[in-house]
Amino acid sequence: MLRRMTDDRHRRPEDVRAFYDAHRTVRQYENHEDGTPLPLPDDHLDVILHAAQRAPTDATAQLYSLIRLTRPDVRARVADLSTNAHIATASEAFVVCADVRRVGRVLEVAGKQPGHWPAIAVHFGIGDAVMAGTNLLTAAEMLGYQGCWIGGVLNGLDGIIDELKLPQGVLPFAALTIGRPAEHAPYRPRVPRPLVIHTDEYHTGTDDEIRHATEVMNPIAARGGQPGDWARLLTMYFGQGGGMEKREPALVAALKRQGLWSGNE
Ligand SMILES: Cc1cc2nc3c(=O)[nH]c(=O)nc-3n(C[C@H](O)[C@H](O)[C@H](O)COP(=O)(O)O)c2cc1C
Repeated sequence: MLRRMTDDRHRRPEDVRAFYDAHRTVRQYENHEDGTPLPLPDDHLDVILHAAQRAPTDATAQLYSLIRLTRPDVRARVADLSTNAHIATASEAFVVCADVRRVGRVLEVAGKQPGHWPAIAVHFGIGDAVMAGTNLLTAAEMLGYQGCWIGGVLNGLDGIIDELKLPQGVLPFAALTIGRPAEHAPYRPRVPRPLVIHTDEYHTGTDDEIRHATEVMNPIAARGGQPGDWARLLTMYFGQGGGMEKREPALVAALKRQGLWSGNE
């Protein structure tokens, strides 16, 4: 007979919902008067790092590494390269990387020949990196911190690879900052569930559903008291001539530099 799964460690659904509803991306953190980072207590830092490493992982491999940024000059340089100033001021800052170098070393030390699988490396490496980073952020939120993922590392990939001395097989995915919030961030909406959670088969949203989703999402693009226009924001990122087209060549170059390019040229 199945034992009922209720003990002190289990939360009620409403508490789980409240926990996830309390999530906010936060970019301003409490710090010392001179602006230097306020360190986390050792046991808090230890448990968020533990949470990161408890993430599940494909093929047992743990194809990721976190570079913890501690030196002020390294923080400042990565903040600059990624165009996200809070990397310098947050209590903790990490660069979350896909990493297939370590598994290569395990094979090497065991006297085995590594295979050739650059596309697989990106697939599993980014997956593992995201799972570890998500665990880290969630654990930090449980302790009352908030954080911010920083895809802005793609703005300065080459320089970040140099600064952090990342060897072949290691590719930054994003940075992640953590600290006690010093701003009141708004609750940001999400696309309505039927467009995201599909049942048994994929459902492409109708024009009306997409228009409704856009209206729901508009507040996420509000700036300085002006009403938000989500489609406009997405156009700036993903439209012709937008930010992602500008980032594309640098990412391709970094994939090649780090030995993770599976194309022919
Ligand atoms: C992979 C990833 C990259 C992101 N990059 C940045 C970034 O470079 N700079 C920034 O200020 N916020 C960044 N964000 C934060 C998002 O803007 C934020 O998660 C989104 O607006 C939703 O807000 P919420 O997390 O408060 O619900 C990023 C988030 C993710 C998951």
